[in-house]
Amino acid sequence: MNNFELNKIAGAVLAGALLVVAINEIANIAVSPTIPEKAAYAIDTGTEAVSTEAVATAATEGPSLGALLAAADPSKGSKVFKKCGSCHTTEDGGKNKIGPNLYAIVGKAKGAGAGFSYSAALTEKGGDWSFEDLDAFLTKPKDFIKGTKMSFAGLKKPTDRANLIAFLRTLGSSSIPLPAAN
Ligand code: HEC
Repeated sequence: MNNFELNKIAGAVLAGALLVVAINEIANIAVSPTIPEKAAYAIDTGTEAVSTEAVATAATEGPSLGALLAAADPSKGSKVFKKCGSCHTTEDGGKNKIGPNLYAIVGKAKGAGAGFSYSAALTEKGGDWSFEDLDAFLTKPKDFIKGTKMSFAGLKKPTDRANLIAFLRTLGSSSIPLPAAN
């Protein structure tokens, strides 16, 4: 093999290598994948529907507490109270059970029941049991007063709470005006 032939072979190898590089480049440009930011077919995992934000929005929508209370039925509320009766009495001067007596609780100062030892969390919350505070507390006691010793999950249905609060209002405190029904 002379030099000339060797050169031809080397040239052929080099050209081949260049061709491979060139084809690779062209292929990359031709089929370069553009990845879309959103999937073409969004898969509904249902997570959005149960996000806390959505729940919070849902909770603030719907009729106001005033409107619910204006339409509330105390006799239905007395049935809802069956969930509370194992721990609370309602009559004037009734005894404390696991929870304090609830006579005239609407508008009463928090943690003011005689002879009941409240949690520090409840007494520190302060203020009166307004309609709004009762509604918030009864929705989820441990959310409204972190550290309360009232072991009750809460009432999810706004109408149940409104009927119940309307019933509590009949316990010696029905003169307390309802909040505006707007
Ligand atoms: C398992 C027992 C239990 C059940 C059921 C229960 N409670 Fe209570 N409740 C308590 C206890 C204990 C406290 C005192 C909480 C504290 O000191 O943190 C309390 C406190 C309260 C207070 C505050 C009283 C005050 O003097 O400040 C209200 C109002 C109340 N409960 C209403 C209700 C209503 C209405 C229901 C029914 C939907 C209910 N509770 C169900 C045990 C219970």
